[in-house]
Amino acid sequence: MAPHAELTIDGLLSEITMLAHISEAEPPVVTRVVFGEADLRARAYVKSLCAAAGLIVTEDAVGNTFARWQGAEPDLAPVATGSHIDAIPNAGSYDGVVGVLGGLEAIRVLQKLGFKPRRSIELVIFTAEEPTRFGIGCLGSRMMANVLTPQQALALRDKEGRTLEERRASAGFTGALDSAALPSGRFHQFIELHIEQGPLLEAEGIDLGLVTHIAAPASLRIHIEGEGGHAGAKLMPGRKDALAAAAELILALESAAKSTGAIDTVATAGVCEVFPSAVNSIPSRVRLETDIRDIDGARRDSVLDALRAACAEVAARRGVTIATDLVNADPPTACDPAILAALEEAAVTAGRSHKKMVSRAYHDSLFMARIVPVAMLFIPCRGGISHRPDEYASPEWIASGVRVLATTLAKLAS
Ligand code: GLV
Ligand code: MN
Ligand code: MN
Repeated sequence: MAPHAELTIDGLLSEITMLAHISEAEPPVVTRVVFGEADLRARAYVKSLCAAAGLIVTEDAVGNTFARWQGAEPDLAPVATGSHIDAIPNAGSYDGVVGVLGGLEAIRVLQKLGFKPRRSIELVIFTAEEPTRFGIGCLGSRMMANVLTPQQALALRDKEGRTLEERRASAGFTGALDSAALPSGRFHQFIELHIEQGPLLEAEGIDLGLVTHIAAPASLRIHIEGEGGHAGAKLMPGRKDALAAAAELILALESAAKSTGAIDTVATAGVCEVFPSAVNSIPSRVRLETDIRDIDGARRDSVLDALRAACAEVAARRGVTIATDLVNADPPTACDPAILAALEEAAVTAGRSHKKMVSRAYHDSLFMARIVPVAMLFIPCRGGISHRPDEYASPEWIASGVRVLATTLAKLAS
């Protein structure tokens, strides 16, 4: 079933704006760290929209949320769609949100058209796609796919030293952690609608991206222990400045990523915590968090190896102690050709231009792919900007994505 006329998505646009205002920061900045006060209010808002659409809402032990439009054959595994609503510090309004509220809109469009799904269609809102609180991305989908085991989850702590156990309990999520792993066959197929977060679609004037592969993310945490002291009185010879060592590692990381010669290798040191962080005190301790990605897992690993080698070399030369902690190193994934074909057919029917592309960002689909065939549908975002308050997707782009998603969900659920 295809929505015929152009979609009017004014309601969806105001919901996106409403959700953007549920933030730890002043608009236009969106910050919603998982299990924080804004995240909980945002969850309540989205659940109320799902309930208003007649969906049956359930949550698992870590707050992954499932909103089901019951199909005529409820025993069949549902077709699912969804994404996340948590947002990194200083983010914008569309990352994840387009897949959640857009997914809900696709369901409402089909409801309005009088479509009766054979399989249930389920909207999934994943907990903590962003790594902000616990340092690891895709927490909820990792647990669904049992890639992060309950034992590993028990070890997670945030910067305040609070465990996942404490945080989820105070957010109202209880139940055994191992119940978050989905039984095999729980979903039939999964599609994630998302903004591209890169510049290609807009630059090439293409409406939709059909994602064939998702790049392999890794994160290495680095703890540097040097020697503090008085910034004026301690002379330069013999210093063990932890931040100076960190600076070398950041540059080594950049150079390792550039030296693969592949445009697909990217590396970032996005967190650098300095102790005691006083202008007249030599940094004694630094924690770096690095993010390394590639569509080629082996090439990504070569950058990780180069970074570890730089750690050993800098530690020996500067007399500081450097310990590393591999947070994650996930393989890349491929999307399902049959779902991609259904998305392509829907794009053609809707008269939308499209291209096959890879996702350099990671998504919950990377982990859902371990347990169910997945595909991703990208819409453009202005200037390729994401993870910034000026992230923007036009109403036309969003409407195209919702329309093609709706048509595809209808086909897969028939
Ligand atoms: C997701 O937010 C990512 O960092 O790719
Ligand atoms: Mn993101
Ligand atoms: Mn996202």
